[in-house]
Amino acid sequence: MYDPQTNSFLNNILDQLDLDLSDKDLLRFITRLSGNFEVIHNHFLGIYGEKSSNHKHIKNLVEELVKAFQAREKDLRQWDLKRESDRGWLLSEQLVGSMFYLDRYSGNLKGFLTKIPYLKELGINVIHLMPLLKSPKINNDGGYAVSDYRKVDERYGSMSEIKSIAKKLRENDMHLILDIVVNHTSNEHIWAKKAAKGEKKYQEFYYTYEDRQIPDSFESTLPEIFPTTEPGNFTYHPGMKKWIMTVFHDFQWDLNYTNPLVLIEMVKVLLYLANQGVDIFRLDAVPFLWKRMGTASQNEPEAHTILQLIKACIEVVSPGLPFIAEAIVAPPEIVKYFGDGDFAGKECDIAYNATLMTLLWDAVATKNSKLLVAGLRHQLAKPLGTTWLCYIRSHDDIGLGYEDAYAREVGYTPHLHRQYLVNFFTGKYDDSFAMGLPFMFDPKTGDARISGTTASLAGLEKALGQGKKAELDKAIDRIILLHAIIISFGGIPLIYYGDELGTTNHYSYVKESGKSEDNRWVHRPIFDWEKAEKRNQKGTVEYRIFQALKKLIAIRKKSPEFADLNNRELLTTDNEHIFAYLRIRDNLKTLCLYNLHDEPQKIGSYVLHQVNFDLKKGIIDKYRRKPAPYNEYYIELPPYQFFWITQKV
Ligand code: GLC
Repeated sequence: MYDPQTNSFLNNILDQLDLDLSDKDLLRFITRLSGNFEVIHNHFLGIYGEKSSNHKHIKNLVEELVKAFQAREKDLRQWDLKRESDRGWLLSEQLVGSMFYLDRYSGNLKGFLTKIPYLKELGINVIHLMPLLKSPKINNDGGYAVSDYRKVDERYGSMSEIKSIAKKLRENDMHLILDIVVNHTSNEHIWAKKAAKGEKKYQEFYYTYEDRQIPDSFESTLPEIFPTTEPGNFTYHPGMKKWIMTVFHDFQWDLNYTNPLVLIEMVKVLLYLANQGVDIFRLDAVPFLWKRMGTASQNEPEAHTILQLIKACIEVVSPGLPFIAEAIVAPPEIVKYFGDGDFAGKECDIAYNATLMTLLWDAVATKNSKLLVAGLRHQLAKPLGTTWLCYIRSHDDIGLGYEDAYAREVGYTPHLHRQYLVNFFTGKYDDSFAMGLPFMFDPKTGDARISGTTASLAGLEKALGQGKKAELDKAIDRIILLHAIIISFGGIPLIYYGDELGTTNHYSYVKESGKSEDNRWVHRPIFDWEKAEKRNQKGTVEYRIFQALKKLIAIRKKSPEFADLNNRELLTTDNEHIFAYLRIRDNLKTLCLYNLHDEPQKIGSYVLHQVNFDLKKGIIDKYRRKPAPYNEYYIELPPYQFFWITQKV
C-alpha cells in the first residue's frame, strides 16, 4: 500500500540516478519497484533495525536493482513480460522435470546439449542442473560448497555456455533450474579466504567465535545434519584461532545473515545469475538461513522474511522468475515457505512435496495407504499460484520426517514404525525386496535416513540378482505405479535421472575420492548411455519402464485436470491397500486408483457414484485407453496396477 514517507525515500533514491524515463521497459521496472519497495524497505528495517546505515544499505540495494535491470538483455525482458502475463504456467500439466549431475550425465554443458533430444523423447521440459558453479575439486558436497558464484566450474564449462543453454532450452520450450546455495559458502570462497586471513569485515560474513562459549550454547539445541561423518556444528580454524559455524560439512561455512552486507551480496549474486537467463532458482537449505540460540535454528521467522525480501528484489528485475524452496522439514513447516498471511504466495513459488515422497515409500513398504492419506490430509493448503515438486527420489537421502501424530492416528508407534521402515528399506527383513543403505545412523537417537535408487528400493536390484521373473515384474510395476502417482497428483513431477531406465544402486562411489564417506552417492549414478539404448528393445527392463513413463507423461500433457489448481480430492475408500484421489477441472474428471498390494484388491463400485460419474455415458481408463472394468459391486485392481478412470466426453 502507498505510504508517503517510504515513497518519498524511493523518489529521493531514484532522483539521484540519471534515468531515462522515456524508456518503456524502464517505466515497467519502476512500476514493479514501487510495487515492491515497501516490502523491501520494511522487511530490511524490520530485520536490521531503523539505523541510518541501513537506509544507506537500502539505497545501495535499489541501485543494484537498477544496474541489474539495465544489464538485462532485451530478449530476457521480453520473456519477463510473457511470464508476468501468465502466472499460471508453473501450475500447468505441461511441465515435467528431471535433474542431472552434469559430469555423471553428459560430462559437461556442451555434452548436455546433445542430450536434449533424449529428454524430449521422454517428455521432460524442466531441467534441474545440479550445482555447477565453481567449487573445490574434492571438498564440494556435490557442488553445494560454492567457491565462486559468478563462475561455472571449469569441469562443466563456462558462464557463456549457461547463457546459450538457457536460450536453447527456451527455444525448445524447456526451462532451466539452477541451484543457488544461499546458506553457506565453501571455505575456498574469497570471503572465507579473506576471513581466514584475519579481515574482520569478512569474518563478519560468517559466524565466528573466539572460544567455545557461544558454540557450546548453540550446540545444546542444534541438531546434527551429518552426525556420523560431521558431528557438531562448529569447526576450529587454527589460522584464525576461531570457531566457525559449519552446520553441514566443515568446509561449508554458514553465512551470517544478521549482517546486512551478506544479504546484499547474495541478492547481487541472484541478480547476476538471473541475467544469465536462468528460469527458476532452487534455493538450497533455506530453513537454515537464520540462527537463533536456544532453538534448532531452522524455520525461524527471519528465514522467511529474508526469502520474501530476496523475492521482492528479484521480482523487480526479472518478474516471474520462480523460487524453489529446498525445505525438507516437518510437514507443517514446509508449506510456510510459500509465504503465509499477507505474504501468502509471495515467498517461494515451488516446494518439494517431501511429505508425499516419504509417505509413498511408507506405502511401498506397508502396501497400505493409511499413513499416506493421513499425512496428505493434514498437509495445509498452499496459496494460489504456488505448486509442489512431486518426486519419488532426489539426490538426497530419504528422511522419515512425517509427524508422529499422523503415525499415532493410524495406529503405529511412531519410533517403532520408523525403525521398521529403515530395516525394511535396508533389506533387514527376509520379505523385504529393498536394497537401500542406512544413511547417518545416529546411535544417540537411533534414527537413520535411507539412501538408494528408486529401482533398488522398489525391488529391481534384488529381483535381477535372484533372476526371479515374478519378482522382476512386481518391481517394474512398483516403479511405474509410483511414477503414475507423481505424474497425476498435482504439481511438477520430478523424475530422477536414470529412474526412467530402472537404474539400480551405483556402488563404485566408494572408490571415488571425496565421495566414499557419503553413501548418498550410491543413488547418484554415472548415467549409462548403453543402457539407455535398450529403451527401444522390446521386453527389456529399460523398455518396459521408459515406455511406460513416456506414455504417462504424454497422457499428463493431454489432461488439463492434472494441472495443479488445488483441484485434487483425496478419497477414503473401503480398502486401505488402494490409494485414491480425484482430479477435477471444469467438466473433466479423472479418478486415480492405485493398488499398493502384491495381490489383487477390490474397491466398492460406489466410488464411481461418489465421484458422480454418469455410468451410462461410459468410463474409460486413460492409461490403457479401454473401458474401465467394473461390475455392480466392485472394481478389481490387479497387483500394483492403477487406473486413471475418466468420463467419456
Ligand atoms: C541441500 C542439498 C544437499 C546438501 C545440503 C548442503 O540439502 O540438497 O545435497 O548436502 O543442502 O548444501
